[in-house]
Amino acid sequence: MKRILAIETSCDETSAAVIEEGNRQLSNVVASQIKSHQRFGGVVPEVASRHHVEQMTIVMEEALKEAETTYEELDAIAVTEGPGLVGALLIGVNAAKAVAYAHNLPLIPVNHIIGHIYANQLVQPLAFPLLSLVVSGGHTELVYMEEPGKYEIIGETRDDAAGEAYDKVGRILGVPYPGGKHIDEMAHKGNDTFHFPRAMIKEDNNDFSFSGLKSSFINTVHNAEQKGEVLDKNDLAASFQAAVIEVLVTKTMRCAKEKQVKQLVLAGGVAANSGLRAALKEAVEMTPTIELVVPPLSLCGDNAAMIGAAAFVEAVENKQIDLTLNAQPGLSL
Ligand code: KG4
Ligand code: ZN
Repeated sequence: MKRILAIETSCDETSAAVIEEGNRQLSNVVASQIKSHQRFGGVVPEVASRHHVEQMTIVMEEALKEAETTYEELDAIAVTEGPGLVGALLIGVNAAKAVAYAHNLPLIPVNHIIGHIYANQLVQPLAFPLLSLVVSGGHTELVYMEEPGKYEIIGETRDDAAGEAYDKVGRILGVPYPGGKHIDEMAHKGNDTFHFPRAMIKEDNNDFSFSGLKSSFINTVHNAEQKGEVLDKNDLAASFQAAVIEVLVTKTMRCAKEKQVKQLVLAGGVAANSGLRAALKEAVEMTPTIELVVPPLSLCGDNAAMIGAAAFVEAVENKQIDLTLNAQPGLSL
């Protein structure tokens, strides 16, 4: 299973990539739709599906061209089967099925979350057991992997995902969707003056909660507005980010030490957060038995290269499927 054409359309990026041996990226083309969704303040599923239809063939051909690869040189097609928006997933799944059928290639379905974790395989070999902190717009999970292909969710958010909280708070601060990147930038110009609650930080479990933090943030802003006070937006951003990072880092490190993992692997769109990357790096420096693996910024958000990397492991496990493959919007690990 040498060369894989991978496809990702689970949300608002149409992406195709060519990956060799599960760890060599020959191309990774990502067409982002963010501009089309920004005026609505979030992803509109119908708009996303239409964009995927328009972009899919162009993106696939561009990925093959960049990789200097023909369909005849491919060994398999991989595609995100879920979780994600059903209409968006269906475009990728059908494109993958069409190519697999036309070129008589095996089809490998990939879980989007597993893709985020395996993005790191394109950086360096993964070492097991590992703990992955998956933080994205839809997920906040601690995934324990004793060996390749074995996944156990040992902690997760009880309400909002970390990225979702960032995006909601971004709306209150009036920054464009998705707010995470903007809040990250503002946080560096402000200070943690508001000391928002660090939910569940002391509790003896691996779960997270961000909806209380979000409410506390909204109440602080509304109370100030009612009193005619103007709050410093950079301080608000810095205070929010400090609360998110302290909880994520404290609970992740505690869990990583308990599980005696070799690697701590950061994954998902929020992995691009500079404060989180720095805080984890600092925490791990004090625990030399654990190696921190962080994806480059280009592999944090949704992309098909990570699907190709994960597909290689799934192919080794022989998880190929026929043309009955369907989108699984609620797929779990
Ligand atoms: O993985 P991803 O591209 O899509 C999902 O699978 O959900 O993650 C997108 C999320 C958004 O919520 C976005 O605000 C967040 O990642 N994000 C960030 C940063 N860059 C993107 N959050 C915090 N800091 C960032 N620098
Ligand atoms: Zn994602």
